[in-house]
Amino acid sequence: MTESTTSKRFYISTPIYYVNARPHLGHAYSTIVCDAIARRKRALGFETWFLTGTDEHGQKIERSAKLAGRTPREFADAIAGEFRGLWDKLGLTYDDFIRTTEPRHMKSVQHLFATLRDRGFIYKGSYTGQYCVSDEAWIDGPAGTVCPDCGRATETVSEENYFFKLSAFERKLLEFYEANPEFMGPESTRREVMSFVRGGLKDLSVSRTSFTWGIPVPGDEKHVVYVWLDALANYITALGYGTDQDQNFKKFWPADIHLIGKEISRFHCVYWPAFLMAAGIPLPKSVRANGWLLFDLSKMSKSRGNIVRAETVAEVLGADALRYYLLREIPFGQDGNFSFDALVQRYNADLANGYGNLVSRVVNMVHKYFGGVLPDAGVATAAETALRATTEKALADYDAAFESLSFSEVLKSLWQVVAETDGYLTANAPWKKPADRSDADHSALQARVLATAAEAIRVITALVYPILPEATAKVWRQLGLGELADAAKNAFLTNIRWGGLTPGTTFGEPAPLFPRAEKDAVERMQNIEDQNSKSAIEAASNGEVVEQPEKPASPEAPKVAAPVAKPVQEAPKPAAPPAPVAPAPVPAAAAPVSAAPIATSPDLKGHDFSRAETAATTEGALAPEGVAGGPAAESDQITIDDFIKVDLRVAQVIVAERVPKADKLLRLEVDLGYEKRQILAGIAQFYEPEKLVGRKIVIVANLAPRKMRGLESKGMLLAASLPDGNPVLASFLEEVPLGARLK
Ligand code: MSP
Repeated sequence: MTESTTSKRFYISTPIYYVNARPHLGHAYSTIVCDAIARRKRALGFETWFLTGTDEHGQKIERSAKLAGRTPREFADAIAGEFRGLWDKLGLTYDDFIRTTEPRHMKSVQHLFATLRDRGFIYKGSYTGQYCVSDEAWIDGPAGTVCPDCGRATETVSEENYFFKLSAFERKLLEFYEANPEFMGPESTRREVMSFVRGGLKDLSVSRTSFTWGIPVPGDEKHVVYVWLDALANYITALGYGTDQDQNFKKFWPADIHLIGKEISRFHCVYWPAFLMAAGIPLPKSVRANGWLLFDLSKMSKSRGNIVRAETVAEVLGADALRYYLLREIPFGQDGNFSFDALVQRYNADLANGYGNLVSRVVNMVHKYFGGVLPDAGVATAAETALRATTEKALADYDAAFESLSFSEVLKSLWQVVAETDGYLTANAPWKKPADRSDADHSALQARVLATAAEAIRVITALVYPILPEATAKVWRQLGLGELADAAKNAFLTNIRWGGLTPGTTFGEPAPLFPRAEKDAVERMQNIEDQNSKSAIEAASNGEVVEQPEKPASPEAPKVAAPVAKPVQEAPKPAAPPAPVAPAPVPAAAAPVSAAPIATSPDLKGHDFSRAETAATTEGALAPEGVAGGPAAESDQITIDDFIKVDLRVAQVIVAERVPKADKLLRLEVDLGYEKRQILAGIAQFYEPEKLVGRKIVIVANLAPRKMRGLESKGMLLAASLPDGNPVLASFLEEVPLGARLK
């Protein structure tokens, strides 16, 4: 990241968040990082623009809304409101919040599209290929190809599309990367992106016709603009690009930093610069990718059901505690695990017992021994000189570390000063007067020690302000320095050096900063989370807007996806071995299915899911005729040993097709992770084969194989049988690995 030398302006953006899921800590992470950077830049006197917003168009949102029984607009309004509300609650200082459904954005995207077309970079063609709705990405490969990024099945799309001449930018992009090594980071992102482009670029389809939730292509309105072209453009549309209100565009573009998650680097480092080059617009100065926030060691995401909400941490420990933990614990660019235990430990060690306790000791002693008026330190001894040297070292290292986004290093070095100041206080014990020390000498020592410690605190406080804005504002007042927000407006960070506290300054009243977290803090946060997920399920069953599952995390670091219209470059992910532990309870046929957005298929609307129904099995040519009865009579009960004999497993449908001359039969190929197999199922009258591809289902894996119509069937699908005889396949609320056993 480089500061503009010509003007003190700075523009930073977060990715814009999909509105198919409520915000969680993973989203908060990127936004908090941007907030810390933006606060520092403002406090350095930069005219700063910090942009965030929501990505609201596309097939994924249209489908999510439909599943929730809402219009896409209602759906988007509700979730966009949650994002904005959360950022406000956390005190994030964004300057603008762009929604891609706003007219200002839509008009400006149309202008960009028309510009690209007028400049000869967009042409019309037809396309048949694979599309991953979850990632809103074109994927190479034949029908049945699994998305290399998220592992979901792709859909075959055959449409007349507009194409962008991405291939024309292959060489230009590589030259640009070579000439601008600072453009993208970290190094792993740079390497991945470069090898992707070196692999060759094909033209990119940039419009869709099979759905309508998007921005109409100007002059050809049956097309909507490809959602990534729509979304990426937010970085300039929010500044008024292509309108007569483009003062901010002129002032702030090109952006200094687009901060993004590592899995969306291809879009930001390949497509976006190519679009901009084609439109004749300067490129952003840098794209920086953060790693993933993990929970229980897998990517925090709604679809995995392992999310934690930022509100929960803020409610129990405060927003500053969350900021500190995220920036201290995770070296920027790497993945990092979140755990409540680690959070509380770090909070107590570094904030409550560390910085908070240090400030409280010093401010209280200045009140106790000097009536709240800062004494003159007098002549420094070796101890003061040493503490000053450590503080000045932290000061000297600070800018470079912050500029390279090494927040963890910044905090480590500042907490080194906290620890040394603490040690210095303890060693000099201004609260204890030895019998052989005169009153005058003791008072001089107290003055020297407290004034020196207060000065170290002042420097730490100033430097940590971008990361702990609330706590540092309190400390600033306690040091008698007034409002830190005002100081920030006056570029106070340009002028921090040792010796800024003036003797005679009247301190403010001591006030607690970080009360020690008690043992139950972890439990309290966990309870809030449990309560939250319960109310989401209740809301879903009441037909309220509930977030839809987002893309599942790939088990390993994501690779850059295969380019459009090229052979698949990566084999689908290696299959997971059968999980030894059963996954979350399967809501097959039981009431909770109705709460799951995934099960609310439009053709099942109006069915009363609150009544428990017995699962019917859907095997071979046996169509699920007849309604399953009530609960089993006592004489029909089985023991656990009987049940355990049935090997129930999670499988994913990879191929589904009708069996010629058999009305009821579908031939499925399913993936169990550890093996693929063929199953024949009598569900052809109830399920369109193409809609089954990609779906995770439950099968009886140890059923003896049998032949039907000359084809072998190895296993049986599980489904609920509705009163009218229709089967409903068992599915899951949470993301489950293939091959996981149900028991
Ligand atoms: N809408 C696109 C971005 C368009 S930008 C022009 C998108 N949205 S998203 O909601 O799926 O993700 C938004 C950002 O949140 C991404 O940068 C993503 O990496 C980040 N995160 C979502 N979950 C995350 C974690 N668990 N950890 C860290 N960041 C995560 O992609």
